[in-house]
Amino acid sequence: MNDLSPLEHVTREAFREGMAHLPGAVNIVTTDGPGGRAGLTASAVCSVTDEPPTLLVCVNRTSSAGGAFRENCAVCVNTVGPRHQDLAMLFGGKTPMNDRFARAAWTQGPSGAPVLSESVVSFDCRVTHRHDVGTHTVLFCEVVDVVVAPGEPASVYYARAFHAVSL
Ligand SMILES: Cc1cc2nc3c(=O)[nH]c(=O)nc-3n(C[C@H](O)[C@H](O)[C@H](O)COP(=O)(O)O)c2cc1C
Repeated sequence: MNDLSPLEHVTREAFREGMAHLPGAVNIVTTDGPGGRAGLTASAVCSVTDEPPTLLVCVNRTSSAGGAFRENCAVCVNTVGPRHQDLAMLFGGKTPMNDRFARAAWTQGPSGAPVLSESVVSFDCRVTHRHDVGTHTVLFCEVVDVVVAPGEPASVYYARAFHAVSL
């Protein structure tokens, strides 16, 4: 180990440019509860363990949905396919929350969070732990329901654009 801070090696811009070249799924992550209904687009989602089934989601605390994710325990991770790419851009920022939800069909999962109809897969969850790192809060989310749309094409986000993937 040396004593150089990572910021002296890697700028924020270099890190973001690197991450833009890491292909991955995009998700519309929703929440509802005492903090109100809200959602944002997130690529920072991954599996933690299947015992108990747990995902993590990294949420920017300063985003307009940040307060709702802090107060609510119900969260749903809805994975985006080609039919929801435009919706993902709406949830990606600047659009008022009600306008985001008005552009798609939703049901309510067992947790109480909005489940996106015809998503590639939806993981309905209850938040079990939170951990702040820099600008973001890592939400550890225990999965209480999984809804898969068999055969629904998926999308991979790579170099700041969506690319369709089908079976
Ligand atoms: C492809 C894509 C991936 C994103 N991934 C994340 C993420 O993992 N975590 C996050 O907090 N924000 C992520 N964002 C940004 C949020 O969706 C956006 O900041 C959020 O909607 C806040 O905007 P607002 O404050 O105008 O509501 C992503 C945006 C896009 C377009």
